[in-house]
Amino acid sequence: MTSSFAVRAPGRVNLIGEHTDYNDGFVLPAAIDLEITLACVARDDRQVEITLGDHRERRSFELDSLPAPSGEWLDYVAGVAGVLMRAGTEVGGFQGSLTSTLPAQAGLSSSAALELAAAWALLSAAGSHVERLELARLCQRAENEYVGVKSGLMDQFAASCGVAGHALLLDCRSLEYRPVAIPDGLALVVIDTGAKRRLVGSEYNERRAQCERGVAILAGRGEPVRALRDATVAMLDAAAADLGDVTYRRCRHIVEENLRTLAAVDALEKGDTGTLGELFGASHASLRDLYGVGSPELDAAVAIAVASPGVVAARMTGAGFGGCTVNLVEADAVDMLRAAIDRDYTARTGLVAHVYEVNAADGAGLVQ
Ligand code: GLA
Repeated sequence: MTSSFAVRAPGRVNLIGEHTDYNDGFVLPAAIDLEITLACVARDDRQVEITLGDHRERRSFELDSLPAPSGEWLDYVAGVAGVLMRAGTEVGGFQGSLTSTLPAQAGLSSSAALELAAAWALLSAAGSHVERLELARLCQRAENEYVGVKSGLMDQFAASCGVAGHALLLDCRSLEYRPVAIPDGLALVVIDTGAKRRLVGSEYNERRAQCERGVAILAGRGEPVRALRDATVAMLDAAAADLGDVTYRRCRHIVEENLRTLAAVDALEKGDTGTLGELFGASHASLRDLYGVGSPELDAAVAIAVASPGVVAARMTGAGFGGCTVNLVEADAVDMLRAAIDRDYTARTGLVAHVYEVNAADGAGLVQ
């Protein structure tokens, strides 16, 4: 008997709370309706074979003899298979055809989406099930161990646990989370700057190491700090000489970004668009000036957006170093923003940007 099924997994956009996830802090991502779909037929020979719908590229591996990481997209699939099996979960082989509306390498977490789609396919082929938050953690482990980027939980969490119409406030220490509605009348707009993200892996891991260094210095001074989540600006100021300029700035971004994230939830719930605009603006500037992950293209996309009527809030989103901006826009002002980007962005950067109006979507799962 052959069993066919299809799974889908969304990309994500982070509203605010950037680089806070691996500091035990707060994040506010939403899963989005740009997604990866895998149409599958279960196989009983422990083989996984995936064909890319548009490129006609085909890759396969055996579940019982996983390939070494190759630096290609298949790593995400094989990595997830390995982690699931090591966790003692039953997985099955499948023949899959992959299609996607999610741009790759734009900073919308196409890798987390692929991990979650692969996980759902591997589990569905065996008739097994893993709870959503746990599945996100296993996919994060696959990325950390197999792919080698020491990313936090945010991307896999959003792709796994997303709730349509909502962003999710996640406490990355307790792993408690709750949906926060995106106010009626506000559109969620993602602008892909078209700038290739540079050195994301190595620079990312370096930022993470700088945060850990900050924690070690604060703890060494007797502060009750297990992660930057526990630090305050007063503690950083008192330790400024020990921290040194770069580590101080990295830590200060994290401490203030956590506060901004909680304030943004409050503002969203009150419909306080003025405060949202200020918080997004401060987050963008802090990521650029303190955390050092900005780019001229991100600045240009944000500057054009905030000058466009009806744009409530705009900032870079994701790891940085290029990629996308996230914008909250009055629903009837999206076309004006599109026109402003079309008119000004290429002249300022020499690149072509893509504007996506997206909806907050449900997390990964079987397509019914
Ligand atoms: C990447 C990582 C996430 C998070 C963001 C920055 O998307 O995968 O875990 O750290 O960068 O907020």
